[in-house]
Amino acid sequence: QEVAGREAFEELIAEDSRVEPRDWMPADYRKSLTRQMSQHAHSEIIGMQPEANWITRAPSLKRKSILMAKVQDEAGHGLYLYSATETLGTSRDELTDQLIYGSAKYSSIFNYPARSWADMGAIGWLVDGAAIVNQVPLCRASYAPYGRAMVRICKEESFHQRQGWEILYELSHGSPAQKQMAQDAVDRFYAPALMMFGPPDADSPNSQQSMAWNIKRFSNDELRQRFVGMIVEQAEALGLTLPDPELRFDEESGQWIHQDLDWDEFMRVIKGGGPCNAQRMARRRDAHEDGAWVREAAAAYARDRADEMDE
Ligand code: 3HC
Repeated sequence: QEVAGREAFEELIAEDSRVEPRDWMPADYRKSLTRQMSQHAHSEIIGMQPEANWITRAPSLKRKSILMAKVQDEAGHGLYLYSATETLGTSRDELTDQLIYGSAKYSSIFNYPARSWADMGAIGWLVDGAAIVNQVPLCRASYAPYGRAMVRICKEESFHQRQGWEILYELSHGSPAQKQMAQDAVDRFYAPALMMFGPPDADSPNSQQSMAWNIKRFSNDELRQRFVGMIVEQAEALGLTLPDPELRFDEESGQWIHQDLDWDEFMRVIKGGGPCNAQRMARRRDAHEDGAWVREAAAAYARDRADEMDE
């Protein structure tokens, strides 16, 4: 049965078809997808914190309602992705425990502080912009529930990126102090946003297998390149500069050359040593523990309803 299963799986991958939860799949395919999809879900949930910090400080009701809508979207993205991950056989409770009490990763970018209102613009434009570049190819991931979750998420990310752009555009065309605030936010988020795409291809242990399984469609460096090319023109339109003296387009290679990124900082941040890791985890743990009564009440209600149905 395993031989037949493996053959069928390899045929699905070879013809670039989709693998559904009920299909046979290699244990390491299941394991790597659980790893990536759960970390993606954790990123969405932890990513709510920097922005939630500014909802009560938004400069207008319009901005407040837009930011609330965005943060709510992120919670929904986490829900889609935890649900998609559960189809691989790990329960949401276990995934949550891996994040809160274990050592599960989430995107490095959320371990940096959101110091000013302009950071809401830089996060929307750069972080959600980078997420779009990384997530559009994932709509075609071989694992069907992941690809399906990405389609809806990408649609909402476009709104996230646009609202971030608009915040920066208003500030950059406002008073000199507002323009400086926008420039400062871009200065702080530019390099960490480039590192969202993962380590250089030569140092990416998962890439080769992930690409062979049609999960990862483009390499970390390829997508980073694509993102840099996108934001160079947008930064000009914003009237802001990217804090990268090395940034130039190399005609010969057709590649954007950017500054070296600090991969020691990256490794430190993903190992828990970033500016906000401890605060983000403490907040997530408190929210989970404070919410235990809601989960218990919902479970008790569901049991009562089930008993009633059995009577
Ligand atoms: N933050 C944290 N960890 C990262 C990372 C990052 N930015 N980039 C890479 N890593 C980790 C990997 O998870 C891997 O560790 P692991 O084996 O323990 O999982 C290790 O560093 C080596 O990286 P690889 O390149 O070998 O790993 P992958 O092949 O998995 O590629 C990835 C990394 C490109 C991030 C890939 O996992 C991916 O595409 N994930 C889905 C996208 C995602 O998670 N996006 C989160 C962005 S934030 C977000 O979406 C919220 C939005 O609203 C802004």
